[in-house]
Amino acid sequence: MILRIAFPTIAALLCLVIRTVSAQSCCESYCYNNDLERKQVQHFATKTAYEVIRVPDTDKQHIVPNCRPVKFWALNRHGTRLPSKGDVLNWPKQLKLLQDAILENYFTRRTLPDNGRMCEEDLELLRRWSWNPNITEQYESVLTTAGWDEVKYFAQRTKERYWEIFGPTYEPSKYHFRYTKTQRTEASFKAFVEGLFGTEESKRVQPEPATSPDRLLRPYDDCEDYQNNKAREERDENGEANKFLRTPVYTSAVWDISQRLGFRHNLSSEQIDAMWGICRFEQAWFLSRPSPFCAAFTEEQVRVLEYREDLEYYYSNSYGYEHAPNLACHVAADMLKHLEPVGEPTVVSYFAHDAAIQLLLAALGAKRDSVPLRADNYATMRNRQYTSSDVPFGSNIAAVKYQCTEPQEPVKVIFFLNEKPIMLDWCRVGLCNWSDVKRQYQRFREGNCDQLYCHGSGASGMRVSFALLLLISVQAVSWILRL
Ligand SMILES: *[C@@H]1O[C@H](CO)[C@@H](O)[C@H](O)[C@H]1NC(C)=O
Ligand SMILES: *[C@@H]1O[C@H](CO)[C@@H](O)[C@H](O)[C@H]1NC(C)=O
Ligand SMILES: *[C@@H]1O[C@H](CO)[C@@H](O)[C@H](O)[C@H]1NC(C)=O
Repeated sequence: MILRIAFPTIAALLCLVIRTVSAQSCCESYCYNNDLERKQVQHFATKTAYEVIRVPDTDKQHIVPNCRPVKFWALNRHGTRLPSKGDVLNWPKQLKLLQDAILENYFTRRTLPDNGRMCEEDLELLRRWSWNPNITEQYESVLTTAGWDEVKYFAQRTKERYWEIFGPTYEPSKYHFRYTKTQRTEASFKAFVEGLFGTEESKRVQPEPATSPDRLLRPYDDCEDYQNNKAREERDENGEANKFLRTPVYTSAVWDISQRLGFRHNLSSEQIDAMWGICRFEQAWFLSRPSPFCAAFTEEQVRVLEYREDLEYYYSNSYGYEHAPNLACHVAADMLKHLEPVGEPTVVSYFAHDAAIQLLLAALGAKRDSVPLRADNYATMRNRQYTSSDVPFGSNIAAVKYQCTEPQEPVKVIFFLNEKPIMLDWCRVGLCNWSDVKRQYQRFREGNCDQLYCHGSGASGMRVSFALLLLISVQAVSWILRL
């Protein structure tokens, strides 16, 4: 009898001990300031700096034996920018509160964890942090100096690599440029041509004017189905990205982050996002200066935050949205159209946004996993193909056409993502036969975009909403008349 009671009691006691120990097992010891590698900066989703993921200058993958590059076509994302309006309005106050609270947790309340405290250097960084008052609503989303350099240096490397295509000077007939109607893509275009032709000569460059709507570079803007799908994913509690917020992977990461910062409660997703947001922006603006709020996260926690954003993008701009692979129809068709003939222009370069890059990747069938990303498979998808960190600031997809001496298939294409060849299973080591390219992307070639784009509802969808608008305004007028 005694034994029978004692056993469960001891078991319960043991349980309690284990639980206390596991509660204390928070947190992992980590010091951002003293970490010279900072591998997590490569996992900052679409706020990753280009410099931290790009191939080294010594890379030679663009050189193909017995082949000569003859055409260059690229779709670029703008370089590093300032935060968008919503963030500029919210972050200064929210981050100041968090900064004060963390320092108070450590030095006044003394609610710091027993293990894995923040190191002194990180706390000192955090103490010295303040919002740059020059970043105001007026400058939301503008390209930064780091963003300008990112794009300019990419242009310089590209010109050096493909000197046979680019030649020494600007010739209007050889080049074709275009950007979306935003400051950051226009400035990125200017940085690119400055990189190619120098400050003076680049002023002569005439881009094709931006249009609005812009089906070539912003195909998602006037596709109702895309917008509805995106809104549904954001709203739906059972959308994969929202579901992920309720998984143990995510909630325990939040709990660990909170405890390590000395909180006795769980920080909200908004608070985590604000800290991760400023961390990523500042790290992209100043590559070699550790950004204070990055110290709030360990490498593993960054991977969890990255996965959440990957899920959001995957279900709106990639394979998780069934119509994504055809939405970039116009730009994919443009690419094939420019690569095909022998004539000019020989260089085409466009400047757009992260969604355009992701949609073109989906159109190409690149970076596709055999298992879809889901809320519940974070652990097994660790080495996945798809990640939004492949679309950093200044990211680019380039298609380069080569003329080779091989008699059967003399024309080849390599697709590059951020200067690395994209591996497609129908090309050997990323070097694709032009005849295979044409076959694979047949659907984009024959003026099919009216049917394919926005699965054919794009054009009629607009007509419907225009008709609706007419109807509404007619009704409004009749109301006014009746009154
Ligand atoms: C804000 O801009 C002014 C004027 O350009 C400059 O002198 C100052 O250093 C800037 N402040 C910060 C924190 O960057
Ligand atoms: C914070 O969230 C974790 C995971 O859901 C939970 O175990 C923990 O009890 C929460 N902490 C507080 C103080 O609510
Ligand atoms: C490309 O074409 C050549 C010549 O027909 C052929 O030998 C080769 O297997 C093709 N490459 C691929 C990856 O199919």
